[in-house]
Amino acid sequence: MPVKTANACGKLILLGEHAVVYDSPAIAIPLLSLKVRATVEPLIGKPQGSIQIKAAPLGIDQDIDDLGKAHFLAQTLDLLFDYLGLLKRPTCRLTLSSELPIGAGLGSSAAIAVALLRAMSAFLGYTLKPQELNTLAFQSEQAVHGRPSGIDNTVITYEKPVYYQRGKMIEFFQPIREFTFVVADSGVRKSTRESTGQVAHDLAANPTFIQPHLDAIAELVRESKRSFQIGDIEALGRAMNADQEHLSALRLSCPELDALILAARQAGALGAKLTGGGMGGHMLALVTPEIQTAVSEALSAAGSPRVFLTQLRPED
Ligand code: MEV
Repeated sequence: MPVKTANACGKLILLGEHAVVYDSPAIAIPLLSLKVRATVEPLIGKPQGSIQIKAAPLGIDQDIDDLGKAHFLAQTLDLLFDYLGLLKRPTCRLTLSSELPIGAGLGSSAAIAVALLRAMSAFLGYTLKPQELNTLAFQSEQAVHGRPSGIDNTVITYEKPVYYQRGKMIEFFQPIREFTFVVADSGVRKSTRESTGQVAHDLAANPTFIQPHLDAIAELVRESKRSFQIGDIEALGRAMNADQEHLSALRLSCPELDALILAARQAGALGAKLTGGGMGGHMLALVTPEIQTAVSEALSAAGSPRVFLTQLRPED
């Protein structure tokens, strides 16, 4: 069997994270500049069905059976083998590398699943259709997070901007103009399982406080869909700022994110908020070409270890 390699991109949630878990809409774009790469190659001289996994970003270098069946990489592979009706596991080495930081709000777990599923299915001589890939990646996300909304695997599978609501048809959208975001790492790492678990706990304990914030986020997302359609960058910036207030009230921000968000706004960003699971990870700021350098410099000066630009263009 020939060596097979596949990539998957990251993602940025522009608005609606967390509320999307409770069936509200959210807006996300692919982050095409940062990739996860999976390579599957034949393994000679090992017992039939032996799968060696080397995944440096996850600190893994061992046989799949030593990982344990509950590990999400083992579960993702089992999902694929079951789906393809494979009776015998292949004998192979799987290598994963990632430019996406893990636990940083950029979709690393869904990207790992998508890259792995693409590479392993190709190794087995099968090309998954996007819908099949998306379904398997969603099931893999369930193994990681418990109750994912499905937005991460969807935007990463299709590599297109999405207006996403669980249970509804996926809406891909085209903005009418270019939107530029400066993205900055807070340097803090937090798993999405932890942040979604906290919201689920708080919602059960205090629904009269939590639910209105989730509802308000959903409304901001609905309004912002129109802002993308008509190119109203100021309205989008205001919605991002308002979304951040709600996320903060839900205890999803942290001092490092707050400092970056303040620095971006003071440097002239039209809107700034955390992105993804929060409690750490990355923030994003909406900018015009005139202020993008000032905002980037302000974020570095405020202590971000990594600042980069990403653009949403009409043809993306
Ligand atoms: C994580 O990227 C986004 C969350 O809304 C979780 C999810 O949608 O599954 C926090």
